[in-house]
Order: sequence, then C-alpha cells, then structure tokens
Amino acid sequence: MRTYNDVISLIGNTPLVRINNITKQLKIKTPIYAKMENLNPGYSVKDRIGISMINWAEKEGVLKKGGTIVEATSGNTGIGLALVAAVRGYKCVFVLTDKVSVEKNRYLKALGADIVVCPAAAKPGTPDHYVTTARRIAEETPNSFYPDQYSHPANPLAHYNTTGPEIWNDTDGKITHFVSSIGTGGTISGTARYLKEMNPDIRIIGADPYGSIFKTYKDSGHVPEPTPYLVEGIGQALPTVNANLAIVDEIINITDRESFDLARQLSRREGIFCGGSTGTIFAGALKVAKELDENSLVVFIVCDTGEHYLTKFHSDEWMKEKLMLEPQRITAGVIAETKHLGNRAAVISVSSTDTVSDALAKMNESGVTQLPVIDDNHSVGSLRESGLLTKLLQNRDLMTSSVADVMDASFPVLDSDATYNEIKAKLQKNPAVLIEDFKRITAIITRADLLDLPS
Ligand SMILES: Cc1ncc(COP(=O)(O)O)c(C=O)c1O
Repeated sequence: MRTYNDVISLIGNTPLVRINNITKQLKIKTPIYAKMENLNPGYSVKDRIGISMINWAEKEGVLKKGGTIVEATSGNTGIGLALVAAVRGYKCVFVLTDKVSVEKNRYLKALGADIVVCPAAAKPGTPDHYVTTARRIAEETPNSFYPDQYSHPANPLAHYNTTGPEIWNDTDGKITHFVSSIGTGGTISGTARYLKEMNPDIRIIGADPYGSIFKTYKDSGHVPEPTPYLVEGIGQALPTVNANLAIVDEIINITDRESFDLARQLSRREGIFCGGSTGTIFAGALKVAKELDENSLVVFIVCDTGEHYLTKFHSDEWMKEKLMLEPQRITAGVIAETKHLGNRAAVISVSSTDTVSDALAKMNESGVTQLPVIDDNHSVGSLRESGLLTKLLQNRDLMTSSVADVMDASFPVLDSDATYNEIKAKLQKNPAVLIEDFKRITAIITRADLLDLPS
C-alpha cells in the first residue's frame, strides 16, 4: 500500500519547480528554481523545525506526556509545532504579534492551539514584547516546553539535515546560488552550511526587508534602529543566535512594494501561490540572476502559501489601501470596495421628490458637497452645493420645491470594471461618477478618491 502513518511523514522532500514566464520576459538566462516549501502539510518551511525541535525535546526528556508547548511565532512555526502536537497529544500556547494575518491566527486555533496576541510595536525585552511574553507564559505553565526557535540548535539543524541535502541532490550538485530570507535565520544558516560543505563556491544570498537590521549589521557590524515594514515572518529588530551571517555572502534589501508585487506575479504568471516573504526572496533571486548566464543555477525558497494572506496583499482592496496596487488593476469596483472597507457609507443620495431643504440638510449632515439624485435605483440627476446655493440666493422660495425642479444632469454612470483611466477622464469634467452593478447604483467615486492612489 502507498500510505503514510501520519501527516508528520509528509514533511520535507519538497520539489524544485522552474520559473518560466517571468524569467523569459526579463531575458534572464540562468535557470531559477523554486523550492516549494508551501507544499509541506502545514504549508510552510517551518514544518521542518516544528518536528525537529519536538523530537529534540522528547529525546532530552524536556517535553513529557501531556505537556504544553509555548512559543513566540509569526505563525508558521506555530503551525509546524501544532501539527506534531495534534498527532502526539500535546497542548500548545502561541504568542503572536498583531501584525500576524488573521488567517494564520485562525489556522492555529483550528489546530487546537491557544493564542495570545501582543503589540508588534513593543520593543524587544519589554514586558509586552511577544518573545518576553512567551517566555513568561512558559515559566508559569507546569510541564511546558519553550523551544525558542531564535536560538534552538534543532532549527538550523533541520535545514542542514534535510533542506540542504534535498537541494543538492535534486540539482545533481549544480546549484550555484541559494537565496533565502532571514527570520530566525534557521533556514539560511542550516541550508547554507550543508551546501558550502558540498561546494564552498556556492553563493548564499539573504533577502531582507528595508527596515530590518540584517543588511546593515552584516555590512558594518552596527545594529541600526529598525523601522516598520509590512512583510511577515522575516527581518528582525535585533540579531538572533540562529542567524549565522558569516555564512551569508551578501544581503539584499527589498521594499514591501517589490515583495508583494513579485509574490502576486508568482501566483498569476507561474501558478505559485505564495506569501510575501517569498516575494522578498524572489526579488533578491531576480536581482542576482540578472547578472548570471546559463552556466549558473539559482534556487530560492517558497516559504509559505498565499492562503495565509488572502485578506492582506493578495487582496486588491488591501493593496489599494496601502497605496501599492498596480495601476492597471485599479478598477471602479476596487476603489468602491476599498471605500466600503474604510467604513464610509456606500452612496448618500436623495430622490427627485425630496424637498430642496431636505437635500441641503443631508449635504450638511454628511459633509458632502454633491449628491446624486436616485429614483428606483436609477440616477436621474445631481445636486452640487455651489450651483444650488446660487439658485437659492436668487429665489429663497425654492427651499420648499422638489429636487426635480432644481437638479442638474446625472453624474456619469460607469460599471465596476471601468478602468482607472476611464474614471479619471470622466472626473476631469464631472465632480463625481457613479458605479452601477447589476442595475443598482452601488458607489460614488469623487476626485478625492483618486488622489490617494499611487499614480
Ligand atoms: C513567512 C515566513 N517566511 C520566512 C521565514 C524565515 O525563516 P527562518 O526563520 O528560518 O529564517 C519565516 C519564519 O518564521 C516565515 O514565517
């Protein structure tokens, strides 16, 4: 029978998949392969260290029957630990920051873990910091095991024993460049140690978000003040024990925009549905590969699945909120949806039979200077405060007239697929456009709504 005893047996032996369309367009000659760690049973590279740290703890007698595993995690290590805990009957408490996606938080709960959330802004060493909190919970919990992935030797060892040999064997020893991120540093340090032992000429490249300390620290020995960035799971505010930067040949800084753009491109153009840190790494891999020829072979890590980020950078609305959406994907629907996310009311309107004084009151109440006139879901006209006030100054009696007597022509109506350029052209001549979906007016877009877009 071709069966497996449990899900733990599915960890590792992930395939290398060639990148085709993106490299062809960029005229990159060197082959680039993705190490598909998103195909692990917990959908990330961190499954490898979950089992490795638990096996160590069981062997050392640190983790006993019915024990509790407590760890500080950006989610994926928690998932890797929780899978094993589910199979072997341990309890789990994970401490996350509020930067961790809701998908990873719920995933951990679904695997039976208890979750504590700490502010991402807390400084290392302070009581609110997620690592300090995890350590305290572990101390207070009887029969508990605190792996501490940032310093546990079983973290890089898992990659030395498995990730490194898999890459070496699957490329028949032809790999010339290995590109990874640095979170705890386990993946890059362990894999690099194995690869360098096999061939010291293999170049090891770390891709790190702007705002993280690793590049400056490696290049100058100085730990700079960290600044916030949006990519999850990688980069640090302080060096870690498991990040052996001496084995890393070069660190390349990558922006959030490049990371998310390339993660989104990997999904759309290669069918590799991955997280933001994979985008960071792939951005680094492309920069390196541009300088290489067909005699080289680049391998990069696909750290985790895009499913963890469906409410984040894989959502056009989230990308637009962060001013990072590609202009060609900005449609009327996306703009309308984002306004809705910001909890602004969908469409404030009047009907043609309302009185002018009611319409004015509505403008004042809601702080708008123009109103669509909508009857039975159809736009029949519009009111603009300045034009209306001019008419009222001439004839105050119009206050009691109906809107139909004073209204101007309707704002243009577009459907939700209308492009950014179409909307922009209409807004040059009109103060607002209306969006119609399934024959209902669902949104109004004003000039101000286009101003907070990236182009
Ligand atoms: C999404 C993601 N990418 C990359 C990493 C980095 O891996 P490592 O901790 O081995 O450096 C992590 C670590 O938690 C992660 O969660």
